[in-house]
Amino acid sequence: MQIQRVGVVGAGTMGNGIAHVFARSGYAVTLFDVEQRFLDRALDVIAKNLARETAKAKITAEQEAAALERIMPVLDRSRLGDCDFIIEAATEKFEIKAEIFRDLDRIARADIVLASNTSSISITKLGALTQRPAQVIGMHFFNPVPIMKLVEVIRGLATSQSTYNVVRDLAIALDKTPVEVNDAPGFVSNRVLMPLLNEAMYAVMEGVATAPAVDEVFKLGMAHPMGPLTLADFIGLDVCLDIMRVLHAGLGDPKYRPCPLLIKMVDAGWLGKKSGRGFYQY
Ligand SMILES: NC(=O)c1ccc[n+]([C@@H]2O[C@H](COP(=O)([O-])OP(=O)(O)OC[C@H]3O[C@@H](n4cnc5c(N)ncnc54)[C@H](O)[C@@H]3O)[C@@H](O)[C@H]2O)c1
Repeated sequence: MQIQRVGVVGAGTMGNGIAHVFARSGYAVTLFDVEQRFLDRALDVIAKNLARETAKAKITAEQEAAALERIMPVLDRSRLGDCDFIIEAATEKFEIKAEIFRDLDRIARADIVLASNTSSISITKLGALTQRPAQVIGMHFFNPVPIMKLVEVIRGLATSQSTYNVVRDLAIALDKTPVEVNDAPGFVSNRVLMPLLNEAMYAVMEGVATAPAVDEVFKLGMAHPMGPLTLADFIGLDVCLDIMRVLHAGLGDPKYRPCPLLIKMVDAGWLGKKSGRGFYQY
């Protein structure tokens, strides 16, 4: 099947980036969110990011205008009915995604693939809520979507090879690099990254080193572009804690126990960059 129109559910940080890259690659995009102000904000961000790409001569002014033209914002979910592929990038709560997947299964053509951009929710579980578990898959983009090359492609237990092929080919068409993984808590990216950040927090909590010292070790010694505590502040400490809890509950190994300092900071409302305070002040 030729994919021409792509549906994106959720127009937040990731949804607007996903709409941006599909539109830039020539796909028509139907962008859905629950309130007009979220759609307006997303189109604003996309317009600014496309203009920046034009200023840097990555695309031409004509390509910028054409990409924006291809994005159709909608508040009525039934308008996703004519999409050839749909990716969900709504809030990371199981109940929200469960309701969306049940409804998309009803609205979308029976032959199309439904993907989720979730960072931690089980693809197998989302697939089981639909009548098409073989056509449900994870397509995990990274922030900022227009820049980051990786797409982690996650197979649920029931995901078929042809569904995998659809998403692999789409990722390549977007000039991304797909990497195949199986469904497991945290997939590969967060299963490996989050324990690193968590361990860095233990080092600070135990007084092994200050946050800037831990970050310097990783920047200068391991050539990481930013240290683990800066990265945790950027991701959001609440998000880090949620993911550690998913790993701890899902894998059952005490090595995934969230750092008590992380729990305390989240309780204090110190969520990192977005709240003005985390391991650093912003
Ligand atoms: N932010 C990241 O760095 C990152 C990276 C990879 C994956 N993810 C995943 O991407 C998804 C979205 O994350 P985000 O950071 O863009 O969140 P966000 O909070 O910026 O955006 C979520 C959007 O979903 C919308 N939404 C809520 N309920 C909805 C519904 N029922 N139908 C349609 N839209 C609805 C919200 O209005 C909001 O605009 C999550 O699953 C998250 O785990 C995030």
